[in-house]
Amino acid sequence: MQGKVVVITGGTSGIGQVAAERLAAMGARIVLVARSQSRGEAALTRLREASPKLAPKEKHRVHYGDVSRLADLDRLATEIRTAEPRIDVLINNAGAVFGERVVTEDGLELTFATNHMSYFVLTHGLREALAAAGAARVVNTSSHAHYRAKIDFDDLQMQKNYSLFRAYGCSKLCNILFTRALVRRLEGTGITANSLHPGFVNTRLGDQGTGFIAMLFRLMKNIAITPEKGAETIVYLASSPDVAKTSGLYFYKCKPVDPSKLAQDDAAAERLWRETAKLAGIKE
Ligand SMILES: NC(=O)c1ccc[n+]([C@@H]2O[C@H](COP(=O)([O-])OP(=O)(O)OC[C@H]3O[C@@H](n4cnc5c(N)ncnc54)[C@H](OP(=O)(O)O)[C@@H]3O)[C@@H](O)[C@H]2O)c1
Repeated sequence: MQGKVVVITGGTSGIGQVAAERLAAMGARIVLVARSQSRGEAALTRLREASPKLAPKEKHRVHYGDVSRLADLDRLATEIRTAEPRIDVLINNAGAVFGERVVTEDGLELTFATNHMSYFVLTHGLREALAAAGAARVVNTSSHAHYRAKIDFDDLQMQKNYSLFRAYGCSKLCNILFTRALVRRLEGTGITANSLHPGFVNTRLGDQGTGFIAMLFRLMKNIAITPEKGAETIVYLASSPDVAKTSGLYFYKCKPVDPSKLAQDDAAAERLWRETAKLAGIKE
C-alpha cells in the first residue's frame, strides 16, 4: 500500500477505524471523512501513531462533513478531489441505525441517506480521481442484514411501516445493488467494486438507541467479534493482490459468498441507480 491514497468514510470508529489504521501501517496515506472535529482529530493522531515512517508532506488528512446531507456530500467530493487528484481506494463504510424514522433536510429517510445515498454521491463525485489511479478499488461495507430485506420502490423513504431493522436491512441491500450497477458502469476503466459483510461486530453501531432496541444491541454485542476481526475483509479488499482484478462480488471472511437473490437482480439494481441519481440531482 506504499504510496497509495485511501479515502474512507466511517474511519473514526469501529471497523472503519481499525481498517484505516491497518492500511496506514501498510504504508497507505489515509483521507478520512468525519463529521466531528474531535473524533476526526483523535483518528488522525491514531493514524500518525500507526504509521510513524510516513514523510511529513505525505500526511494523513481529514475532511469534515455529515454524510447524511447531500450538500455536505457534494462539498466533500469537491474538496477531496481537489486535494487528491488520484485516489487508489475508496472505502464507503459510514453507517448507522435509527430507532425512529427521521427525515433529513433533503426529504430523505435518515438510514437511507446515511447508509446508501452517501455511497452513491461520494463515489460519483470521486470517479475521475479513481480513474486517474489506473487500477482503483471501491469497497462498500454492506451486511448480511440484507438477506431478509426487501426494497419497495414506491416507498423508498419508508413512510409506511418504518422499523429500524427494515430500514437498515434495506439500506444494506441498496449497498449491494449499488455495487452491482456501479460495476457495469466501470467496465473498461480498471476500477473494481466489491461489497462485504464484516461479521457481527462489537462497535458503537446501535449505541444511540433507547429502550428495547438499546437492550437488544447490548445483548447481541456479547456474542459479537472484535472490530479488529471485523475489519479484516475491508483490509483484504482494499489491499490484497488476490483481488486486484475482482469486481462485483460480495465477500464475507475474505471469501466471495452469494448475496440474496434480490441483491443479484439487475433490474432492481438499475432501477435503484436511476432513482438514486434523481434524488441526488445527478444527471447521467
Ligand atoms: N457492527 C456490525 O455488527 C456490523 C455488521 C454489518 C455491517 N456493519 C456496517 O459496518 C459499517 C461501520 O459500522 P461500525 O459497526 O463500525 O459502527 P460504528 O462504530 O458506529 O462506526 C460508524 C462510523 O460511521 C460514521 N458515521 C455515521 N453516521 C455518519 C454521518 N452522518 N456522517 C459522517 N459519518 C458518519 C461514524 O462517525 P462517528 O465516529 O462520528 O460516530 C463512525 O465513524 C456500517 O456501514 C455498518 O452498517 C456493521
